[in-house]
Amino acid sequence: MEGKEGRSRRNRESRLSRRQKLVLAAVAAVLIIVLIVGLGLGLGLRNRGGGGGGDDDELPPAPQPTAIWQPAVNTSWQIILNAKLDIDPNNPVVEPDVEVYDIDMFLHQNSRAISSLHKLNKKVICYFSAGSYEPKRPDSSKFPKEDIGSVLDGWPDEKWLNISSPAIREIMVGRMEIASRMGCDGVDPDNVDGFQNENGMNLTPQDSISFMTFLADEAHKRNMAIGLKNAGDIVKTMLPRMQFAVNEECAQYKDCTTFAAFVDAGKPVFHIEYPDGAPFDTDPEQKEEYCNAPGAKGFSTILKAMNLNFGAEYCDGRQVRTKVLRR
Ligand SMILES: *[C@@H]1O[C@H](CO)[C@@H](O)[C@H](O)[C@H]1NC(C)=O
Ligand SMILES: *[C@@H]1O[C@H](CO)[C@@H](O)[C@H](O)[C@H]1NC(C)=O
Repeated sequence: MEGKEGRSRRNRESRLSRRQKLVLAAVAAVLIIVLIVGLGLGLGLRNRGGGGGGDDDELPPAPQPTAIWQPAVNTSWQIILNAKLDIDPNNPVVEPDVEVYDIDMFLHQNSRAISSLHKLNKKVICYFSAGSYEPKRPDSSKFPKEDIGSVLDGWPDEKWLNISSPAIREIMVGRMEIASRMGCDGVDPDNVDGFQNENGMNLTPQDSISFMTFLADEAHKRNMAIGLKNAGDIVKTMLPRMQFAVNEECAQYKDCTTFAAFVDAGKPVFHIEYPDGAPFDTDPEQKEEYCNAPGAKGFSTILKAMNLNFGAEYCDGRQVRTKVLRR
C-alpha cells in the first residue's frame, strides 16, 4: 500500500513535472522567438539609424535629414524692411508670388505673417541688425554703452557695435532665439562689415569672421539658414558656413564678381540695387547696367528704393506692390 501510494504519488509527481516541463519548454520557445525577433528589430533599427554596419542584405542607411534650408541659385524673392506684411491669416495671399520673403524680424514678432507665408509654400528670411545699435528695438536697453561706436554713414539712428563683446553676442543669441521661435527659415544679420567702415571700435576683418562664425553656429543649432550680408572681403572665408548671400549695390560698386563665389558654390545671391527712380520709375540706363552687371550672372536681382518698402522691380520689367500695414 505504502509502496503503491508512494509510487502513485511519485507517478503523479512525475506526470505533473512532465506537464511543467512542457509548459517550461513552451515558455522558453516563446522567449527565444521574442529574443530573435527583438534582436532582429534592434539591428534593423540600428542600421536605419546609420550606426551599425551589417550584412550587404541589410537596408542601406537613410540619408541624414537636411533640416537646414539650402536655397538654390536664382531663387526669386522680395525684401521689405520698413513695414509689416498685410496677409489675412484666414485667406492668405501675397504678391509677388516669389519663393522667399526677407522681412524685418521685430516688426513681425507678434504677427501671423510667417505662418501665412509658410502656408503659401514660401520661405522666410528674418532680418535683424547684428552689428549696429538701433534705439527703438525691444531689446535696445540691453546694449552696454561701452560697446557702442560711431554712427553709420547714411543711417543717423544706427551705431556700429563692438561685435567681439560677449554682451553684444549674448543679445544677438537672444535675437536668434526670437527668430527660431517665430519659425524663420533663415536669418539675415545685417551690418557685419563694420571693418569696411569708419566704426569707432577698431573692428578688423578677423572680428567679422569670428562674429559671423559665431552667428552661423547659433543659427544652425536652431535649424536656421544664415546669409552673409555684404562684407565682400570675407566672402571666401565665410562661404562654406553660409547658405546664401545678401548683397547691396555690388553692381553700382562694380564688385559683383566677389559675390559670384556663392553662385559657383550653388548658393544664391539675393542682390539689391537702388537705381534712381526705383521701383516704379527706374532710370532705364541704370537698370540696364545693374541687371547685366559683370559677375552677377545667376544673382537674384531686385531693384528697390533705399528704404526697402513694399515696391520692387525685377530685371524682366515686372513691377510689384506688396500689401503692407500702414504704421
Ligand atoms: C531664374 O528665375 C526666373 C524666375 O524668377 C526664371 O524666369 C529664369 O528662367 C531663371 N533662370 C535660370 C537660369 O534658371
Ligand atoms: C571689444 O570687446 C572685446 C571683448 O570684450 C575687448 O577685448 C575690446 O577691447 C573691445 N573693444 C573696444 C574698442 O572697446
